[in-house]
Amino acid sequence: NHKGSKSNDSRFLDQFLPCSSSLSLPGPTSYFLIGNMMELKNDHLPIHLTNLAQRYGSIYRLKCGTTTMVVLNTSEVIREALVKKWSDFAGRPISYTGNIVSGGGCNISLGDYTEKWRAQRRLVHSSLQRCCKKSLHDVIERQALHLLKVLMGYKGHAVDLSEDFTVAASNVITTLAFGIEYDKSSSELQELHRCLNEIVALWGSSWISALDSFPLLRKLPNPVFARLLKEVVRRDKIITRLLNNYKVKVEACNTLKVLNYMSSCSQLLTDIHVHMATVDLLIGGTETSAAWLDWMVAFLLHRPEVQERVYEELCTVLEGRYPKYSDRHRLPVLCSLISEVLRLRPVAPLAVPHRAIRDSSIAGYFIPKNTVIIPNLFGAHHDPEVWPDPYSFKPERFLKEGGGSRGSSTRDLIPFGGGARLCLGESVAKMELFLFSAYLLRDFQLLLPESETSLPDLRGVASVVLKIKSYKVVARPRPVTNP
Ligand code: HEM
Repeated sequence: NHKGSKSNDSRFLDQFLPCSSSLSLPGPTSYFLIGNMMELKNDHLPIHLTNLAQRYGSIYRLKCGTTTMVVLNTSEVIREALVKKWSDFAGRPISYTGNIVSGGGCNISLGDYTEKWRAQRRLVHSSLQRCCKKSLHDVIERQALHLLKVLMGYKGHAVDLSEDFTVAASNVITTLAFGIEYDKSSSELQELHRCLNEIVALWGSSWISALDSFPLLRKLPNPVFARLLKEVVRRDKIITRLLNNYKVKVEACNTLKVLNYMSSCSQLLTDIHVHMATVDLLIGGTETSAAWLDWMVAFLLHRPEVQERVYEELCTVLEGRYPKYSDRHRLPVLCSLISEVLRLRPVAPLAVPHRAIRDSSIAGYFIPKNTVIIPNLFGAHHDPEVWPDPYSFKPERFLKEGGGSRGSSTRDLIPFGGGARLCLGESVAKMELFLFSAYLLRDFQLLLPESETSLPDLRGVASVVLKIKSYKVVARPRPVTNP
């Protein structure tokens, strides 16, 4: 499945790449990603990289400044690198700006693959699992019910729901982590989100990534970088305040939250590791699920008949009650909607870059140590060889003829990555997407406001997270069904 043929230029450049006797990688010559990114008008980077795959194939290389990156564009090659050869590709690129936002590499998402990192990830994972087992379902249910109340309060007016989704997703994480839940109007919550959003957006911008690829630029004034530094300081102040308040609270009432488990193993982790793991959970757990909910509603506005099918299924199967996560096997239409939205808009479309920690190979190509690997999840989810009519929103592709969920293509659905770097919050996210959407679609019909002349723009804006441009929706309450 290696589409595309090699150009003369790429053959010429191959000699500069260390390679074994096997074929060397195709790819554009002297490709300055930053410049090209700025030329992207309607397309975002994941679309652009996916288009390049049509020319260069399922695996190609890009040169960006002094860095060579290898882009993987099908689920087959992504799984080969991330799952089958996970121990070769579990590293993260060590970058100047990454170091700044990750407290010197002390977080999970950007920390390199070391003994200490493994201990940190294991600890955060098991702390999260223990909390989830005890209380995740209740925590999400509570936030879902609160979300319904907020929507009811809009009384059918056209609103942008993105902030409410962010508050709901964020409250799941802050409840799990610190036992705190915020109101939308809370100034602490607003400050935290504004700051984390800003860091994610700035760090994903070409003004910042240019500093990693072209070290000379660090000597020039860069107002965007100055803003990033300011936001990192602000973030650390907020997190320190939250952690300190939490410590005081724990001493008063011994609640069992993620932070307790983490702190109880502090001989392994320093305060900065706990601090940065908290940032990981907050960033990883808020923007992603909230962005997905925004996408889900937008797609339903485009295909209202899908919304009606989900609603009918919820009414028939649940007979008026709210769903439990264990009901998912009996709700294939809802599950097909969730999968299709994850396929079309994987909210972390390029995952997080990996780094080869030793010489290895992918699809028969030699990959030298330290090569940066970009898993293009968006590209893999639009591979026409796996997904017929890949750009169309068709939840029914996940359904068997007679209903029920189909297993075959879910193997190629990889929105959470895989292997050693698999999304740490996958189980939290899956339960959130299911319960939030089921509650929402059981109680509300989502409609395009009469004042709107066009449907939401589905192209999206990609930085680290793939988001939809803001749009308004009317949430009309469904007739009351008594359990
Ligand atoms: C990493 C997707 C929700 C925490 C990732 C990665 C992806 C991803 C693709 C990168 C994997 C890689 O590097 O190969 C998603 C999606 C979500 C979601 C699609 C929701 C729809 C969450 C939630 C949390 C979370 C709710 C926290 C509770 C993390 C963390 C990492 C990560 C900490 C870094 C893992 C590591 O580097 O080892 N996620 N995520 N994510 N995610 Fe998520």
